Amino acid sequence: LQDPAFSASVIDWQRQHGRHKLPWQQSRDAYRIWLSEIMLQQTQVSAVIPYYQKFLQRFPTVFDLASAPVELVMEHWSGLGYYTRARNLHRCAKQVVEQYQGQFPADPAHLAELPGIGRSTAAAITAFAYGTVAAILDGNVKRVFARVFGIDGYPGSKPVEDAMWQRAVALLPAQGIEAYTQGLMDLGATVCTRSKPDCGHCPLQQRCVAFAQNRVAELPVRKPK
Ligand code: ADE
Ligand code: SF4
Repeated sequence: LQDPAFSASVIDWQRQHGRHKLPWQQSRDAYRIWLSEIMLQQTQVSAVIPYYQKFLQRFPTVFDLASAPVELVMEHWSGLGYYTRARNLHRCAKQVVEQYQGQFPADPAHLAELPGIGRSTAAAITAFAYGTVAAILDGNVKRVFARVFGIDGYPGSKPVEDAMWQRAVALLPAQGIEAYTQGLMDLGATVCTRSKPDCGHCPLQQRCVAFAQNRVAELPVRKPK
């Protein structure tokens, strides 16, 4: 499943056409990156940006967040939705202060033990903050993989998800993990979108099984009833 040309295509595309000016890309502070990734889990970039800025003004460090009353944290989250994220955010900040002296761990397996941080979010945080080579697999990446590799099963099922994780790990680049990780996210968000993907401007078109077989609209397959 290894294929160095895959990550090279994604990295080249990200450097030329990906997003570089997002607020959380201006910092390597793991706290800021963690905050952005939690906010982005279920919320669009455009909606996240003003919340992210206001949140950081009020809670500039993980210590400020950990020591704040949960009610104040909820107030600053109010409007973003999925409020379990805010409660886990606060619990996570407390644990990072107590267990890690305020330093987010650079090992994604350790990060993934903390509240609100799954395997993919842990990998994204450690890639962006520390350059750790680890695989992401969120909804957007699943869609790209289902199309590029012509994967017919439902990506929410355990066997298909396991197979996608295997691919995600095998495709990791040795260099440029930040651009690669951001590139996968940006491709899914701006080119290989759910409806009307822009295959004409896709760096993966030549290798895309769904494109070659004219099955882009059918993949990924919907949740079976
Ligand atoms: N969605 C999840 N993480 C993201 C990121 N770092 N940039 C843009 N969109 C994202
Ligand atoms: Fe997605 Fe089209 Fe690119 Fe295939 S060619 S990965 S369907 S945008």
